[in-house]
Amino acid sequence: MNRVKHSRRHFLRNSVAASAGVWAVPTALTAGATADNDNYLEVGLPKSSLLTPALCVDLDKLEANIDTMQNTVSRNGIGVRPHTKTHKCPAIAHLQMERGAVGICTAKLTEAEVMFEHGLRQILLTTVNVSAAKIRRAMQLRKQCDGFIQAVDTEGNARELNDAAREAGIIADVTVDVDPGGHRSGITPGEPALTLAQLVDRLSNLRLRGMLCYDGGSQHVSGFSARRTQAIERMSPAAETFSMMQQSGLNVEIFSGGGTGTYNIDHATPGFTDIQSGSYVFMDASYLGIGGQDNDEVYSDFKPSLTILTTVVNAQYEGRATTDAGAKSCTINRPWSIIIGETGMSYTSGSDEYGSIRYENPSRVYQSGDRLELITSHCDPVVNLYDKIYAIRNDSVEAVWPVAGRGKNQ
Ligand SMILES: Cc1ncc(COP(=O)(O)O)c(C=O)c1O
Repeated sequence: MNRVKHSRRHFLRNSVAASAGVWAVPTALTAGATADNDNYLEVGLPKSSLLTPALCVDLDKLEANIDTMQNTVSRNGIGVRPHTKTHKCPAIAHLQMERGAVGICTAKLTEAEVMFEHGLRQILLTTVNVSAAKIRRAMQLRKQCDGFIQAVDTEGNARELNDAAREAGIIADVTVDVDPGGHRSGITPGEPALTLAQLVDRLSNLRLRGMLCYDGGSQHVSGFSARRTQAIERMSPAAETFSMMQQSGLNVEIFSGGGTGTYNIDHATPGFTDIQSGSYVFMDASYLGIGGQDNDEVYSDFKPSLTILTTVVNAQYEGRATTDAGAKSCTINRPWSIIIGETGMSYTSGSDEYGSIRYENPSRVYQSGDRLELITSHCDPVVNLYDKIYAIRNDSVEAVWPVAGRGKNQ
C-alpha cells in the first residue's frame, strides 16, 4: 500500500477515521453534536477532564506490548496472529499489523466482518460456524476477502462448508481445529484430525491451509516452569497430528494456537507457526498474577496498558468509598480490578452502577470527586462494555478509538 508519510498523531487520527468509517469532522459546535463529533472534540483534551467511567489505553505501553510480542516471536522463528476478541478495535488491529503481525484472529463471524469493513484483510476465524445461515454468510465474507480463513472440526461441517462454497461460487480456505484435551472445541488429535484434513483436501470447493490448536487451559497456569511443562505436554498430540498431516502431503502452512500465557513457550512445539495472543496488548488483573519467566510474582513481560478511569461519588462513610464504575463498567469477573498506585484497600464492582472501595490500612483516603484508575479484571469482557477507548499519551487524548466490534457476538 502506498502510504504518504505522516506524523504519528496524524496517522493515529487517520486510522481512527478509517476505522470508524463514519467519523466526520464536526460542522459546528452545536447542542446537537453527535457522538462521533464528541469523539473528535475529545482529541487533545487532558485525561483529567474526561467523563467517567472512561476506558483508556496508554499508548506508550500498548506499543511496547506489541513490540515485545513481535520481537519475541520473531526471535523464536514464529509469527503472531493477534486475537481481536480482546480489543474489538480496528485501530489497534491496524497497529498490530503495521508492527509485523501475520494476520488477525476473530472469535465471531460478525467480528470478522467488522474487521474486514475497516480494512483488515488477513482474518482467521477461530470458531466454527455450524448453522446454515452463518455458513452462507461466512462464504459471502470469503467472496469479498481473499484472506479470510475458517475453522472446521467435523466431517459433516466440512461437507456443509464445501456445499456453501460451491453455491457461492468460491473456493473457501479452511483450517482444521484440533482439541488440546479440554473438549471445548476441535476434533480429537491423531487419526480423526488427519482424516478430516484429508477430507477437506479432497473436497472441491475447500482449500486446506493447516490446523489450529488453542490450549486455553494452560494460559493462566501460575509459575513459568509449571506453565511451560503443561503447555508443551498438552500440545504434543497436536504436534504429532501436524507431523502426520505433513507426512501425508497435506498443506499445513498454518499451525496456530497459544496465547498471552504461552507466547514464549509454544515455539517449542514442532511445526507451530504463530501465536494467537489477545490479552498481551492490554494485560489485566487475571494475567498479572500468573508470574513470568523472569518474575515469579508478577507477569511483567507486558505492561497493563488498559485502565478504567472512575470518580468517587460518595466518601462520607467510615472505612469505605463509592465510585461510578460498577459491574456495567468493570464486569463482575474475578479477580477484581486493581486500584493503580494504592495499597491497603480493595475494589469490588458487584453493583450495577457503583464500585466499592474498602479500606484496611489505606495508603490514602478518597474525597468525593477524586479520580482513580483501575487495572481491569479480565480485559476482553470489559472492552465489550464500552463504545470507545481513549488513546492516551502524556496524559492527554491522542485519539478516540471506536470499539467497532463491540457487541458483535454472532
Ligand atoms: C481460540 C483462542 N485463541 C487465542 C486466545 C487469546 O488468548 P489470550 O487472551 O490469553 O492471549 C483465545 C482467548 O480466549 C482464544 O479463545
